[in-house]
Amino acid sequence: MRRMRSSETIRNLVRETRLDPAEFVLPLFVCPGEGVRREISAMPGNFQLSVDELVRECQEVKALGIGGVILFGLPETKDEMASGAYADDGIVQRALRALRAQVPGLLIITDVCNCEYTSHGHCGKIVDGEVDNDQTLEWLAAAAVSHARAGADIVAPSDMMDGRVAAIRHELDAAGYSRIPILAYSAKFASVFYGPFREAAESAPQFGDRRSYQMDPANGREAMREIELDLEEGADMIMVKPAMPYLDLIHEARRRFDVPVAAYQVSGEFSMIEAAARNGWIDHDRAMLESLTSIRRAGAQIILTYFAKPAAKLLRR
Ligand code: PBG
Repeated sequence: MRRMRSSETIRNLVRETRLDPAEFVLPLFVCPGEGVRREISAMPGNFQLSVDELVRECQEVKALGIGGVILFGLPETKDEMASGAYADDGIVQRALRALRAQVPGLLIITDVCNCEYTSHGHCGKIVDGEVDNDQTLEWLAAAAVSHARAGADIVAPSDMMDGRVAAIRHELDAAGYSRIPILAYSAKFASVFYGPFREAAESAPQFGDRRSYQMDPANGREAMREIELDLEEGADMIMVKPAMPYLDLIHEARRRFDVPVAAYQVSGEFSMIEAAARNGWIDHDRAMLESLTSIRRAGAQIILTYFAKPAAKLLRR
């Protein structure tokens, strides 16, 4: 076996998995104001950006050949009804219009969820202390339509309500957006690795947790059912999230379903590598590329990752 490993040129020839920045999607956080570029303390190199700064960031993203961005919004105010999620002049909607005008050709995905917009931080409408499934669907569909109207290329529901893909598909079609694809966060687990994101998006639940809607990390077969249901409801692409702790499910999804499979290398996965590298305990660039390669090798074609920019820079050399 060692003959095939004996030089970099041979290793390069027989390498089975390659990374391409065109398959990366960079998550970005957009906030009110002007000239705002506030670093997220647990996620070095990631910022809350006002719309003008977001435009600059996206110009760089596009120049690096990165596949696209996924937008998360921090609204001016939050309320019980998540009004900011589906307002026509909401923060993500404004960002979309600016990006459409100023960064032509950039692929823009929007995260469709309510947790950044509710005063209680849950992903839906609270009725009798619980997140009500079917009333939440109306908000989600309204948010998706408002994103499409403002110029989103793809909408990505991350709430984990039942039936949301069908509800969103139906309302998009009714509003004349039948060409807009849905990337479903199908197998999204109630994961501890979202910790740093909740600081970034200011979306930590104010009571309880998300275990009554996000999946139990122990359940792989149930993940396949979630994916199957989302595809039946009209999802065009599916996602497994987080990525590295769930490589088995990425692989299984790739084997079973002939649709584009995405994986989200989430905030905690990113922050662990950053923290270890900052302590001198691990080589940053090698850990970054090895983690991305493992996700690609498991079968994810599209990788949502906070490493999109530094990885793209390394890969271009
Ligand atoms: C919104 C959402 C979350 C993430 C993506 N969309 C947080 C959550 O569900 O609590 C996490 C992303 C990350 O950790 O990088 N529902």
